[in-house]
Amino acid sequence: MDEAEFAPFAENDRGISNPSAAPGIAELIDRRLTRRAALAGLLAAGAAGWTGLAPSPAGAAPSVAAGFEEVPQGADERDHLPPGYGGQVLLRWGDPLFPDSPAFDVAGQTASAQARQFGYNCDFVRFYPLPAGSDAADHGLLVVNHEYTIPALMFAGVAPGRAAARATTREQAAVEMAAVGASVVEVRRGRGGWEVVPGPYARRLTATTPMAVSGPAAGHRLLRTAADPAGTRVAGTFADCAGGGTPWGTVLIGEENFQAFFGGKPAADAALARYGVDGQGWYSWHRHDPRFDLAQEPNEPNRFGWVVEFDPYDPRSVPVKRTALGRFRHEGATIAVNPDGRIVAYQGDDERFEYVYKFVSTRPWNPADRAANRDLLDDGVLHVARFHDDGRLEWLPLVHGQGPLTAENGFPDQASVLIQARAAADRLGATPMDRPEDVEVCPATGRVYVTMTNNVRRGADRLDRANPRPANRHGHVIEMIPPEGPGGPDHAAAWGRWDLFLAAGRPGVDAGTSYHPGTTADGWLSCPDNLVFDPAGQLWVATDGALAAGVADGLWVTRTTGPERARTRRFYRAPIGAEVTGPCFTPDGRTLFLSVQHPGQVAGSHFAAPATRWPDFADGMPPRPSVIVVTKDDGGPIGG
Ligand code: FEO
Ligand code: CA
Ligand code: CA
Ligand code: CA
Repeated sequence: MDEAEFAPFAENDRGISNPSAAPGIAELIDRRLTRRAALAGLLAAGAAGWTGLAPSPAGAAPSVAAGFEEVPQGADERDHLPPGYGGQVLLRWGDPLFPDSPAFDVAGQTASAQARQFGYNCDFVRFYPLPAGSDAADHGLLVVNHEYTIPALMFAGVAPGRAAARATTREQAAVEMAAVGASVVEVRRGRGGWEVVPGPYARRLTATTPMAVSGPAAGHRLLRTAADPAGTRVAGTFADCAGGGTPWGTVLIGEENFQAFFGGKPAADAALARYGVDGQGWYSWHRHDPRFDLAQEPNEPNRFGWVVEFDPYDPRSVPVKRTALGRFRHEGATIAVNPDGRIVAYQGDDERFEYVYKFVSTRPWNPADRAANRDLLDDGVLHVARFHDDGRLEWLPLVHGQGPLTAENGFPDQASVLIQARAAADRLGATPMDRPEDVEVCPATGRVYVTMTNNVRRGADRLDRANPRPANRHGHVIEMIPPEGPGGPDHAAAWGRWDLFLAAGRPGVDAGTSYHPGTTADGWLSCPDNLVFDPAGQLWVATDGALAAGVADGLWVTRTTGPERARTRRFYRAPIGAEVTGPCFTPDGRTLFLSVQHPGQVAGSHFAAPATRWPDFADGMPPRPSVIVVTKDDGGPIGG
């Protein structure tokens, strides 16, 4: 979700594209210092951005890359794909998932029905082949997150705006609690396309599903509540945004804006304030369930903001909150397997001026014994990133007793370091970033890409090389380069390098944009969020917030190496108000799953008069967040 406020655009800014596209890998690092030296001079001279570089031909050059004709920029009630591609709506809010699921009744929705149906605001998507361990591309499980609810678009009679959302009835709040979390859905490709198979794998995680807590913070006094005096069992998950997958076939889902679900009067507590838990939540839940009332359960927010691991192949497995990965507003957790077998989880903390983290497991994973990896993520070291202006990337360990992380500074044990990971990272001098979102690792090069979605509040007095633009409305993508170790890129290393991959916005219009100079008028993007690499090695970038630049969100594709590096091309355009999330390919690259989240979410849009009725376009039916399936008419690889 994106709660950013967007000021009107400064149309008088002059932006220039980056001419240093298409570098070779060795050349890239050499060039960086030269370019940075030039930038340093420009910034010191007061230039607002990366002006002075070669002029951009943006809009003049057609996209010559093979594969597809770019979808034009714009915004309307429908979604759009390039010619030669087909889209099919696979899963809509309210769709039955179990053999006994009731049919969706938008006028009479109940919590018990919702708990057996596809949830609201689908986000992260990951495909798990069936049978497990195979590379099947026509049969599998989809894990889909459901991030949050929009009462004005879900329920007749609820006005748009936060005041009405905070006043939903007990039954409506119960529907909302059943509409968040995640779904596991069996899907199969048949002659008529992809279809849902209601069967034994189907599962819903909701805000009330029993979960375990493990790792260093399990049982800590800050996690204990009236309902759970031991601090080891939590009811449910919500605010689940992006996620990742482990090599042993479990899924990780990230609890992001958990603060939005709490209300009531909080105690004066710097630890709560550091997470924005201020009682100004977006919902009514605290009025109907005391555990969401900060005055009654001040520790309940400490039980959210974690990464949750569960086994999609076992619907009876108990999901586990892995506290060793730290507590913050997790966009997700992206796994890299280090050459020595240790597991590295890259994570963004999605709020302005927050940090990029990585967790490094103590032990290597065991490919021969799935059960041996069950608690692997409970033991390891969380690190936070400092992006040095000279291109070095430093990973600072969050370890109790090391450096400033002592009892005198408020960290009496490792559990406190993890529960208050933001405060610990503050102490270590991590680099405050422009809202870190998703992370992906290029399978071919081992380079790591992390999106900064935007940060309109960064002032000119707080610029650094990794966050180089004031009032950053359009965001950027950073490339992290692990050092080469024996056997490949060393993701566990304490030091690496970094570079700017692209700076978003309208080339030639917005200050400081940086793309391949051939990027077209349809090819620029704004507010990068979710990332995924396809099997051919192309990087796909989904956006959340482009409408503030006058165009609908969507999905773009680019190369990270070679002559097409950082030339983004628009592949998909979402219906108005929607962000695009969860891009996910089948192992053959011939099917793309996309979450279309919060269609119709624009100011004033509500159940009776929504900005779009996508995808049903039926009278009386509001827009429904949905997962779509994209295939190529000739059956070939997507974007190929
Ligand atoms: Fe839920 Fe960070 O987007
Ligand atoms: Ca977002
Ligand atoms: Ca996101
Ligand atoms: Ca991703």
